[in-house]
Amino acid sequence: MLKAIRNAVIDKTMPLKSYKLFYPFKRITKQDQEDFLNWVDPLIEEIENFEKKYEILLVANSIEAKTQRLIQKKCLRCHGNGNNRGGFGGLEDLEKTVRNPKFGNLEAPEKSLLYTLSFSGEMPTDPRERLSGEELQLMLDYIDGLE
Ligand code: HEC
Repeated sequence: MLKAIRNAVIDKTMPLKSYKLFYPFKRITKQDQEDFLNWVDPLIEEIENFEKKYEILLVANSIEAKTQRLIQKKCLRCHGNGNNRGGFGGLEDLEKTVRNPKFGNLEAPEKSLLYTLSFSGEMPTDPRERLSGEELQLMLDYIDGLE
C-alpha cells in the first residue's frame, strides 16, 4: 500500500487533475516530493525487513522444522549420520523415510511404525527420553501434512 502511495506521489497521478484545477495550491511540489520520500522510503524498508525476519521465524516454527529438530534431538544419535542401530539409519532423510510404507502411513499416520514405536515408548530406547504428548502429536501432524 505504501509503495502504491509512493508511486502516485512520484508520478503525480495523485491528486487528480480535476482536483488540482480547483485547488492549484495543493499541487505537490518538488520539495513535497523530497520530504515525502525521506519519510516513506525508510518506512518501506523497515516494513520489508520486518517481513523478512518474520518469514524466517515462520519457517523455524513450521511443523516440518520442529519435527526435524525433534528427530535430531531424540533419534539421530542412533538412526542417522552414519548410525544405524537395529539396521535402521534412515532418519537423516525424514521425509523419504516417512514416505517408505514400512515406516510411514500417510493415510493413517497413527499406524506409522515411526509413530507406534515412539508412542509405545520403545523408541527412543532410553525411557528418560520418551516423547512427550506434544512431541508425539507433532510427529503425527508432520506425517499427516505429507501428501
Ligand atoms: C539409543 C539408541 C536409539 C535411539 C535414541 C532411538 N532408537 Fe530406534 N532403534 C534402536 C535400536 C537398538 C533398534 C533395534 C531394536 C530391535 O530390533 O528390537 C531400533 C529400531 C528402530 C526402528 C525399527 C526399524 C525396523 O526396521 O524395524 C524404528 C522405526 C526406530 N528405531 C525409530 C526410532 C525413532 C523414531 C526414534 C526417536 C524418536 C528412535 N528410534 C530413537 C535404537 C535407538
